[in-house]
Amino acid sequence: MKTIKMQVFATVTAIAVVFALSLSAHAQNASETLYKSKCAACHGADGAGSATGKKMGAHDFTTAEVQGMADAELSTIITNGKNKMPKYGASLKPEDIKGLVAYIRTFKK
Ligand code: HEC
Repeated sequence: MKTIKMQVFATVTAIAVVFALSLSAHAQNASETLYKSKCAACHGADGAGSATGKKMGAHDFTTAEVQGMADAELSTIITNGKNKMPKYGASLKPEDIKGLVAYIRTFKK
């Protein structure tokens, strides 16, 4: 009896883990798509900044300068904009912005 319960528990746990992993992979893909369609024109597909973006004053996302900024600071800039950086608070949901901040973290070198 006990063995069967353990097996059921292990199976359910394994399914939950696989499900959670695929969900987070999905969220990362969604953020990547969003980044490429809305942000890459200025910030570059690699986060280092396009020629246009750099001219406007965008900073390289791979550097300690940007990676050293708190999540709250990054999401505030995305939400409210800053100088030539457009604001996205009206067009993106808070969870989209959270996903974009997580995606920006993947540029860390
Ligand atoms: C029209 C060009 C443009 C677009 C499009 C754009 N940004 Fe920016 N972004 C900038 C500029 C310019 C700055 C620098 C603002 C400053 O400090 O003066 C900036 C700053 C930032 C910063 C703060 C770090 C830094 O580089 O100073 C973050 C984070 C950021 N943008 C994220 C995003 C995200 C996410 C998107 C897409 C949803 C996006 N940006 C779209 C131009 C752009």
